[in-house]
Amino acid sequence: MRTVVDQGADIGEVLLTEDQIQTRVAELGAAISADMAGRQLTLVSVLKGSLPFMADLMRAISLPVRIDLMEVSSYGGATTESSGLVRILKDLSSSIEGEDILIVEDIIDTGLTLNYLVRYLRGKKPASLRICTLLDKPARRLVEIDVNYTGFTIPDQFVVGYGLDYGELYRNLRYVGVLKPEVYSQA
Ligand code: PRP
Repeated sequence: MRTVVDQGADIGEVLLTEDQIQTRVAELGAAISADMAGRQLTLVSVLKGSLPFMADLMRAISLPVRIDLMEVSSYGGATTESSGLVRILKDLSSSIEGEDILIVEDIIDTGLTLNYLVRYLRGKKPASLRICTLLDKPARRLVEIDVNYTGFTIPDQFVVGYGLDYGELYRNLRYVGVLKPEVYSQA
């Protein structure tokens, strides 16, 4: 029988509380709405990690929005290191030519995923392309990324929750927490 993980017990420290996240998401939504006033936005979310952020952010934006979902993979399974490989697992479902695009990401780590995605989406000839990330971990950056909206800049710790996973678990935590090192060092 599979051992059931006690998700809360595996968290060493809460880095961002539910309140902090919700307050910041509201601020980001207001800033995006002001900057893009009078326009219609297409939000392109990068599954699966950005799912809760996308759901909250889209409702914090007061402009008309369309949404599209992509899924790309940069990490292999339960490892904590980027492989540098980016694969498209799910592509856009409609054309973005001439659209104002906002990429919605949960975290920028090495930047390899977004570096690839930005070049890929620019090739589809949108009118504009902006990036919004909930979390930025600049200590691990390998390629430079121009980010328009950042929720929180965080230290180089292994974080889970509010969409972020380890071994596909912990995504449903309402907060962002630091995973206890013994959890991933046992793997
Ligand atoms: C995570 C995260 C970003 C990417 C960031 O996705 O959601 O897309 O890694 O890392 P990078 O800046 O080093 O490229 P992951 O591939 O783990 O998939 P997931 O969203 O389904 O968890």
